[in-house]
Amino acid sequence: MDMEFTYMSLPIEEKLAECAAKVEAALDEYLSPEYVGDSGLAEAMRYSTLGGGKRIRAFLVLEFAKLFGGSEAAAIPFACALEMVHAYSLIHDDLPCMDDDELRRGKPTCHIKYGEANALLAGDSLLTYAFEVASSNKFVSDKAVRLAVGELARQAGTLGMAGGQYIDLGLTVDSYDELKKLHMMKTSALIKAACLLGYYAATDTPTEENIKRLSVYAEAVGLAFQIHDDLLDVKSDTATLGKNVGSDEKNGKKTVLRFKSIFEAEDEESLLTLLAVEAVSDYIGSEVLCKLALWLMERKK
Ligand code: IPE
Ligand code: IPE
Ligand code: MG
Ligand code: MG
Repeated sequence: MDMEFTYMSLPIEEKLAECAAKVEAALDEYLSPEYVGDSGLAEAMRYSTLGGGKRIRAFLVLEFAKLFGGSEAAAIPFACALEMVHAYSLIHDDLPCMDDDELRRGKPTCHIKYGEANALLAGDSLLTYAFEVASSNKFVSDKAVRLAVGELARQAGTLGMAGGQYIDLGLTVDSYDELKKLHMMKTSALIKAACLLGYYAATDTPTEENIKRLSVYAEAVGLAFQIHDDLLDVKSDTATLGKNVGSDEKNGKKTVLRFKSIFEAEDEESLLTLLAVEAVSDYIGSEVLCKLALWLMERKK
């Protein structure tokens, strides 16, 4: 694809940093002793949620809300809920019974710092607290809350992220198409939840057409995102990535490189990104979402 990545990357990085700071402040408040207490469990929740992460899912919530005329105030609780579900998924993903990883976001993983049982509970608590936060969003209608909570549950659950992690851990993946299905579940699902929760922060009368376009964008961005994650695991270094490289190889994971060369995988990532861009480019104000999709292909971590 012939695109001006360098020119495009600067403004989007600034926007991402701005969003990360806002969401960090809101998460810090949600995870304050007033709401979650000051136990060791609350400390573990804060440790794994605050102070790191690109906040891509939160950014998608905020930007899709903005695209459809929603307020930032309405989007923030949904963005925080998404980041909490994501943080839970990472805590559990790193556990010895899953990917057995010791480094995440440049620091020891939750179970290394607090022990396995506490990491398990910190994940459980983040998942349930996310639904409390989403359902108490006072800036949207009850109907919008119902749409958002249902969507988040669906995309996090058996047919979404958790179901994808199940296949990732155990089942045989014999073709690229099967791998794609797995990636759609473990990675695209929460990205889709982010896009749709942004939409529901703006309206409680969603149209089928918009849901379809947002789903195409989310699914393609998610697939490209996971290809990039698989490539970084072999191409990057631990200091840059903030996670131990070679984790997939260590675990015998079936990544995109089982079915494609690095060159082919990069090509597939570009095609998926183009698909994502096409899905939303007709919306006025969608430039930032297009730039985000392009920036994700350049990211170093
Ligand atoms: C990592 O997600 C897990 C995958 C789905 C590949 P991110 O790369 O978004 O992780 P953070 O939030 O930036 O740490
Ligand atoms: C994580 O997938 C996806 C989740 C649902 C948490 P990976 O196991 O490939 O992600 P990293 O590389 O550990 O972040
Ligand atoms: Mg994993
Ligand atoms: Mg992992």
